[in-house]
Amino acid sequence: MDEMTRINLAAQKVIDALGTAEIGVILGSGLGDYADSALDAKRLSYAEIPGFPVSTVPGHAGMLVCGTLHGKRVAMMQGRFHYYEGYSMKDITLPVRVMQKMGVKTLIVTNACGGVNLDFNPGDLMVISDMLSLTGVNPLMGPNLDAFGPRFPDMSCVFDRQLRTLAHETARAQGFSLREGVYCQFPGPCYETPAEVRMARILGADAVGMSTVPEAMVARHGGMRVLGISCITNMAAGILDQPLCHEEVTEMANRVKERFKGLVDGVIAKA
Ligand code: HPA
Repeated sequence: MDEMTRINLAAQKVIDALGTAEIGVILGSGLGDYADSALDAKRLSYAEIPGFPVSTVPGHAGMLVCGTLHGKRVAMMQGRFHYYEGYSMKDITLPVRVMQKMGVKTLIVTNACGGVNLDFNPGDLMVISDMLSLTGVNPLMGPNLDAFGPRFPDMSCVFDRQLRTLAHETARAQGFSLREGVYCQFPGPCYETPAEVRMARILGADAVGMSTVPEAMVARHGGMRVLGISCITNMAAGILDQPLCHEEVTEMANRVKERFKGLVDGVIAKA
């Protein structure tokens, strides 16, 4: 089956079940329950969507939810797909294509990541200013989907300036400030080595994680406005004299969750 047919089949099922949406949100680790605050919400399990992979990471529910927030229809992914799970880049980004078919023009991508910038602290929220990938693969490889965007899409401003400003203003109005920086994707699933973290810093990264770049790239290819917000759940490997573990990441993600949800909610209200 070609990629366009696959997208159309998945989109048809999703639109039949959930309707259309103008804003899309990819809810990263620990943020999934934000979707529960939507009114008139309809839900569809990934398992019911033809061609959708099934999320294998604990803390990722595997549900597409579409509901009303601040008078806008918002499609939310409770749980995303990661390259380290063994999925292809096309699998990982299929939901972004489907959201675009639903009518989504603005995509908010969230994640948990490790802080590389030494000024950052665990618990900080960071607006993504730009991104770099060390996975060596690109979700736009293969025949170009002309219906979505050009063969050689511009990536000189992946993350929308107005949305970034809106995120900062929203945080300020809620009594806190946001960091801003470059997100670097490693393939995972192991956390980086201290040498990789030093390398990432030299390359210009402020944070390292295992997601987000493919989704943002495909969203931009399709002409969506993209906002990326990261939760710095830990300092990246080698910065502190202690090993990293998934529990530390989920614990911090949980601690920051209310603030993170408040920020996303405030942005949706004005986006
Ligand atoms: N590295 C990569 N991914 C992550 C990290 C990290 O330190 N923390 C949370 N996700």
